[in-house]
Amino acid sequence: MKNWTYQDLIVAPSLLAADFGRVAEETSRAINSGGDWMHLDIMDGNFVDNISFGPAMVETVHATNDVFLDVHLMIQRPDHYLPRFVAAGADMITVHVEPEATHDVGATLAAIRAAGVKAGLALNPATAFESVVPFLDQIDMLLCMTVVPGFGGQSFMGDMMAKVERAAAIRAEKGLSYHIEVDGGVDPDTAPICRAAGANVLVAGSSTFKAADMKAAVSAIRGE
Ligand code: DX5
Ligand code: ZN
Repeated sequence: MKNWTYQDLIVAPSLLAADFGRVAEETSRAINSGGDWMHLDIMDGNFVDNISFGPAMVETVHATNDVFLDVHLMIQRPDHYLPRFVAAGADMITVHVEPEATHDVGATLAAIRAAGVKAGLALNPATAFESVVPFLDQIDMLLCMTVVPGFGGQSFMGDMMAKVERAAAIRAEKGLSYHIEVDGGVDPDTAPICRAAGANVLVAGSSTFKAADMKAAVSAIRGE
């Protein structure tokens, strides 16, 4: 598998917006349309007010294609469930920094890397950037949420670009190499704002899977 770096511009269609009755076909459609990674949103009904899918779905997507699987855990006790997502084929596992996720953030990030998987850390719109600073040298990706997590199809919060800019500045200052991902309300109109701020991984659910022409939508998000 390709060794993706933060200098790569990566579009990650979010399966949450796909037709769950045709997961294999939808995955192929995303990849054939130019999607680089698949973004898989895991929601437990506790950390967020919605329930999506679990490790079995990750395994299904993994079985259909060897595309890079970007697994976003919006769950309590990600440390407890971690081994199941590793076994299911995750390539990146992102956990939340908020106390409501109820885990030892540093220990979970270390456990993800020890399992041979890339480690991501996410922060919600209401969470101050300072909360992730102690962990920046332990991560492969920082995920700046651009909506309150839980549902697809919400409006992009442009204010979050200040966090993206800080993350990029600190990365340069400290000689780090984490990806910067944005998630929520990313479409052909908001993607340029994200790219200009320094984000290189653009998650897009509704704007890709629900587009009339998915390939054109992915290209437009990429800025082509
Ligand atoms: C939101 C999820 C997102 C969601 C994005 O809680 O983390 O990944 O799928 O959906 P859109 O792109 O429709 O805003
Ligand atoms: Zn997500």
